[in-house]
Amino acid sequence: MRAEGELAAARVLFYCETPMARTDIDGKYFLSYEHIHLSVRYLADRIRESGFTPDLIVAIGSGGFIPARILKTFLGVPILTVGISYYGPDHKPSAAPHAVQWIDEVEKKLAGRRVLLVDEVDDSRVTLEYCLRELLRHGPAEIAVAVLHNKRKEKKGSLPAEVRRYFAAEELNDRWICYPWDAQDITEHEKVARSGILPG
Ligand code: G4P
Ligand code: MG
Repeated sequence: MRAEGELAAARVLFYCETPMARTDIDGKYFLSYEHIHLSVRYLADRIRESGFTPDLIVAIGSGGFIPARILKTFLGVPILTVGISYYGPDHKPSAAPHAVQWIDEVEKKLAGRRVLLVDEVDDSRVTLEYCLRELLRHGPAEIAVAVLHNKRKEKKGSLPAEVRRYFAAEELNDRWICYPWDAQDITEHEKVARSGILPG
């Protein structure tokens, strides 16, 4: 675990250094479901340690759905969801993030609440910034961010000054991350994540 100096000093970044089933091959990272679950448990521990007690989770779909659901197991708070899309099917970013689904109900529930915004990856930071700015308009007491992975790269987006807590389970190089929920063949994916060997 180490703090990162990139953000303002009041913010906290944590990285998990526990080895888990993750494999770096063919210019990509392959992560097992166990790896994801352990990363989320790690995040939950760091969030608790920081003294932040969220009233609710806002999951950014679709990548944040599964991490948010696992976090609920550890933190025991309800999940609201927003659907934001930035990348198209070809994995290329579109002009700007767009809301696929933005529930008015979410907005009504934010005033005065401590919100934990959850996504799977902090890549360009554009989606995160978009969501944070939207959610901040509705007067939450605090918004903290939790992501599984922060990519080591220059960010196009930035975290608004109101965001004082940022948690990432791991910092990774700027490569494509293959998440288990994207796998067409999960048995093969888990094998690759555990063995580091790509099929013939
Ligand atoms: P950020 O603000 O959180 O940094 O994210 P950014 O807008 O840069 O890009 C977010 C989109 O890119 C998300 O998809 C996210 O899942 C996807 N993405 C970025 N890097 C990776 C990666 O290494 N592996 C995978 N699997 N996805 C990555 P999206 O278009 O918002 O849709 P969805 O997949 O969340 O539904
Ligand atoms: Mg996402």
